[in-house]
Amino acid sequence: MSQQNLSNTDADFSEDLPFSQACENNKQPILKVLQQELSGCHSVLEVGSGTGQHSVYFAPRLPHLQWQTSDVIANHRVIEAWHDRHPAANLHKPLVFDLNSDNLPIIKTDSQGSYDAVFTANTLHIINWSLVERLFQLVAEALPVNGKLIVYGPFNDKGQYSSDSNRQFDLYLRRRDANSGIRDKVDLITLAKQNHMSLNTQYQMPANNEILVFKKCDEV
Ligand SMILES: C[S@@+](CC[C@H](N)C(=O)[O-])C[C@H]1O[C@@H](n2cnc3c(N)ncnc32)[C@H](O)[C@@H]1O
Repeated sequence: MSQQNLSNTDADFSEDLPFSQACENNKQPILKVLQQELSGCHSVLEVGSGTGQHSVYFAPRLPHLQWQTSDVIANHRVIEAWHDRHPAANLHKPLVFDLNSDNLPIIKTDSQGSYDAVFTANTLHIINWSLVERLFQLVAEALPVNGKLIVYGPFNDKGQYSSDSNRQFDLYLRRRDANSGIRDKVDLITLAKQNHMSLNTQYQMPANNEILVFKKCDEV
């Protein structure tokens, strides 16, 4: 498995805080895209914040917006520890957001109204497809028209892997959990359409990853 695909459970605990080398490697190129895509936004919900490393890097470099972290509760202690170590005025403690919970997670609104973007990195290949569907539905319900869903990770295109390392990674994921695996852009575009969103921009990223930016087209 290549480093960019390290999951949170593979995080390196040799530091005094759980640490993901993958986040260190990809944070700069992701930030460049976010600076462009989020220039007109005021409030972002990050789904699956993991260690919290992305959030402490992005929030102070995107000072015009509020960065709301979220994850399953098991990850909150670590995210909060990273926030305590690297505080920023626009960085917010994690919300409980578990797509697997019986009660539908509510995407709460901030004081200014609602999120106008949702960002998630390396989550769609971890959660099962029914949870990917749930995520897209919740996001579409929460976003205003022209709001953005920005997803980072490895993706297939019409059944084709983008690299041999991603093919190996997909096999690893599916052996571990048959319902996980690298998602196909065709399926994500179809799912987005079903939820009043369309693929607006895609960015080729280092190490055979991509960023897909979906935009909400009309009211759900
Ligand atoms: C591979 S980690 C990615 C973490 C971080 N975004 C990154 O890029 O390093 C996958 C993330 O998905 C989250 N996740 C897994 N199952 C979830 C669920 N049912 N609901 C919400 N988040 C979930 C994990 O807790 C974890 O933070």
